[in-house]
Amino acid sequence: MTGGSNFLSNEEINQIRSSVDIVDVISGYIPLTPRGKNYFGVCPFHDDHSPSMSVSRDKQIFTCWSCGATGNVFKFIMDYENISFIDAVKVIADRAGIAISVKNFASSTKQEKYQDIYDIYALSQKFYQNNINTSLGIKAKDYLKERDIDSDVIKEFGIGLSLKEKESLTNFLIKKKYPIQTILKTGLVNQNSQGYYDMYYNRIMFPLCNLNGQVVAFSGRVYDTKDSSKYINSRESDIFKKGELLYNYHRAKDIARQDGKIIVMEGFMDVIRAYTVGIKNVVATMGTAVTKEQATLIKRMAKEVILVFDGDAAGAKATMSCSAELEKIGVTPKVVRLEKDMDPDEYIRAYGKEQFVQKIENPINIMDFKLSYLKDKKDLKNEAEYSTYIHQVLEELSKLEDTILVELTLSKLSEDSKIDIEILRDQLYALQQSQQPPSLVPAPKKQGKRITKYEIAQRNLLYYMVNSTEVIKIYNRRAIYLPTEKYRRLARKISDFYKRNHLIDVADLFTEVSHDATILQTLEEIVSLHLKENYLIEEIQDYIDTIYEYNVKFESEKLQEQIKKEVDSTHKAALAQRMIELRLLKEKEMER
Ligand code: UTP
Ligand code: MN
Repeated sequence: MTGGSNFLSNEEINQIRSSVDIVDVISGYIPLTPRGKNYFGVCPFHDDHSPSMSVSRDKQIFTCWSCGATGNVFKFIMDYENISFIDAVKVIADRAGIAISVKNFASSTKQEKYQDIYDIYALSQKFYQNNINTSLGIKAKDYLKERDIDSDVIKEFGIGLSLKEKESLTNFLIKKKYPIQTILKTGLVNQNSQGYYDMYYNRIMFPLCNLNGQVVAFSGRVYDTKDSSKYINSRESDIFKKGELLYNYHRAKDIARQDGKIIVMEGFMDVIRAYTVGIKNVVATMGTAVTKEQATLIKRMAKEVILVFDGDAAGAKATMSCSAELEKIGVTPKVVRLEKDMDPDEYIRAYGKEQFVQKIENPINIMDFKLSYLKDKKDLKNEAEYSTYIHQVLEELSKLEDTILVELTLSKLSEDSKIDIEILRDQLYALQQSQQPPSLVPAPKKQGKRITKYEIAQRNLLYYMVNSTEVIKIYNRRAIYLPTEKYRRLARKISDFYKRNHLIDVADLFTEVSHDATILQTLEEIVSLHLKENYLIEEIQDYIDTIYEYNVKFESEKLQEQIKKEVDSTHKAALAQRMIELRLLKEKEMER
């Protein structure tokens, strides 16, 4: 996340933030119902079944009781729309009718910097689409009609046609008075010794959009000539990185979030087909190996991920590699395999929507797919091959987070192979251990370490500091030293905020710490504690006593140890100084 300070001042950003009510903004995205002082809705950031997200009008923040998502209105927009902090500020400013000078954004947003290139792509898309509707586009339209792609679909997906000579894009753009250097930068026009020429001609043009739905590239398909490459994609540019987008993402994301399900295909033709028969929560990876960025986009859209790749061997292989990428980020996908080497487009056309929906609603789990994939072409009667198979399955299991699925597969494998399940389990465990990076051995326990009463005291104190100036004043007056670094940093930040503004406003505090990942995370941790609203001053006193007790007990012991070990004299002096501070604290405490 980018901090605000480099393009607008914090005051300006805070002004934009406070010009809207977070309740109004969020209810434009998800239905909210009032309950007590707060509003509740179904959390869009995890697979929520009951309304776990609360939105506070008083504090102008949202918090999910279940997944811990929290923040101010900018954070909500950023995560919901998958946009940057700056763009979220812009969205809110637009909504509030606050004009932000474009110059402020120019250096910081890709949008302004490459505005010409975006414009040329938008214009080219219109140009190509216009071509297909002229008499020169009849053959192309016939080809599409043959494939059951009618004018509505052509319109929806912005499909067009590239032509040559008089009807070339080069001529068109030059006539529009774009500087040739800019035109060349788009990659849609090239240059040789003869002059300038179109990158595409006589191809059906499919626009590829970025996450916001702006055209940033094309894929051009042959239709009436023999050509070795079926599709030609635009080369990567300042605004187009193939591995960072998914075909149809901007249309599918909201529907996928509502459904809790996203369908992933290989080809954009498959997506176009599925979409036009009404299956809209669908995106395409567009052939090449799925990248980490694409996997992350998939994960953000929905919890349930269904891979429906081509039915051929290449599609099975792509299913394996895509699921590997997803598993790395904790997603366990499901799989649909199509018979007779068909792709989803062919399948839907051959058997109809209903039968395809049937398939989607009954996917197989990823391990069943992998079992059959790994079995394929192996002679399992051959002991060596059988052993390879078992090892490969265990290898795959070691990557899974879904422990139930691991158990299910282990028992299947044991039944199949007649190998005792405990032996398989031991093997799997050994494999998992060997995969841990050396520094993590022994493997950390899943639940995480138990939190101590000292940490609880610090967290609770911070929670009330975030909500009450009275508690901040106590913190300042007593000069409390929080032993845990991240808590100490946050406490200092809050105290500093109060000194500057003479109040505490958690929504603005969120903005202020947004460029510092550690403090931001700590603030999120504190805000999502959901302690009771009102505190007793005695409780605050207890937290402070507990922290104080820790400092005296452990901190001074630790310091003494360190001083003993330290050889560097400056470091030694610093430690000694801290020791003195601690003693002073102790004396001050006695006087109270
Ligand atoms: P496919 O070959 O499966 O395409 O490639 P398809 O969807 O079945 O297309 P049609 O039905 O023949 O028209 C899947 C994806 O791989 C990329 C494209 O993005 C395509 O959607 N691809 C394929 C290329 O980039 N270049 C190619 O030459 C072929
Ligand atoms: Mn196809």
